[in-house]
Amino acid sequence: MILALETSCDETAAAVVGDGGELVANVVASQAELHARYGGVVPEVASRRHLELVLPVVREALADATLDDIDRIAVTRGPGLIGALLVGLQAAKAIAWSRKLPLVPVDHLHGHVASLFLQPEPLEPPFLCLLASGGHTMLLDVRTQSQWTVIGSTLDDAAGEAFDKGARLLGLGYPGGAAIDRLAREGDPDAFDFPVARLDGHDFSFSGVKTALLYAVRELGDELAERRADLAASYQRAIVRALVERTRQAADELRAGRIAVVGGVAANSELRASLPEATAAPLALCTDNAAMIGSAARFVEPVAYPGYLALDAYASSR
Ligand code: KG4
Ligand code: ZN
Repeated sequence: MILALETSCDETAAAVVGDGGELVANVVASQAELHARYGGVVPEVASRRHLELVLPVVREALADATLDDIDRIAVTRGPGLIGALLVGLQAAKAIAWSRKLPLVPVDHLHGHVASLFLQPEPLEPPFLCLLASGGHTMLLDVRTQSQWTVIGSTLDDAAGEAFDKGARLLGLGYPGGAAIDRLAREGDPDAFDFPVARLDGHDFSFSGVKTALLYAVRELGDELAERRADLAASYQRAIVRALVERTRQAADELRAGRIAVVGGVAANSELRASLPEATAAPLALCTDNAAMIGSAARFVEPVAYPGYLALDAYASSR
């Protein structure tokens, strides 16, 4: 069994995953409330909170298992907030070292893709994967459980970032994706005509729609409150439409037999409903968690004791 840790952003998470992809334990401590008053994640605050939470979260994940059952430790090495990543990496190194266990460094994006490889219904590659989170928006041609080609990405904001910034403009607080999702259900998605960027190739751009929302909010002035739900619904419709159009177009061109959707934005109800042909990651595994890191670790070469002590984290995609 694998004990996995994830601390790349504002979730402190630990999970126990079996070699066959069985999810034995999955604990996520969200720091969202802590960061809400700042309107976004404050890196230094996140690092300090990870430090407080990491051992309690690991202990809880091991409630039904003991370290004797664990034969390797997996951890997110990057990309993410460097201080936050280092807390998880150091904790994972310490646990692995004390038990002379191997350590499996996992790329966070690999983790999101691997949220599809867990029991009871693991998805078999090849498939086209839309990865849409707070930090990334990408189309991946996934060939095996550990190999893919990036065929498109965002030129500016990530889709989740667009949701979060939009929520901020609407006064919905942080994190904003789920708040827009909820409010949009009460609004008219055709009330405002927000543009969807049309780029050549398979890339995304969300800065235009964000600016359009900003202008609409300014223009409304005092009427904002009564139009908030319409704005949320129209804004969400524009983002989802861009994601769905790009993904379907890429699937056609690549003749992809199957489509999958992962990452925090894959939790969006309109996106899930608008791509009924796609396999979406289980709801609980869309936003950051350690189960997906443990799942990915099954397909990554472990680093033997004690060679991993020199491993460093990385902040940006490599
Ligand atoms: O994957 P994730 O937890 O973290 C990153 O790796 O970035 O994704 C977080 C992002 C946030 O931007 C959040 O607003 C967005 O996912 N999100 C949603 C929903 N739930 C979370 N966006 C739209 N609709 C949702 N229901
Ligand atoms: Zn993520």
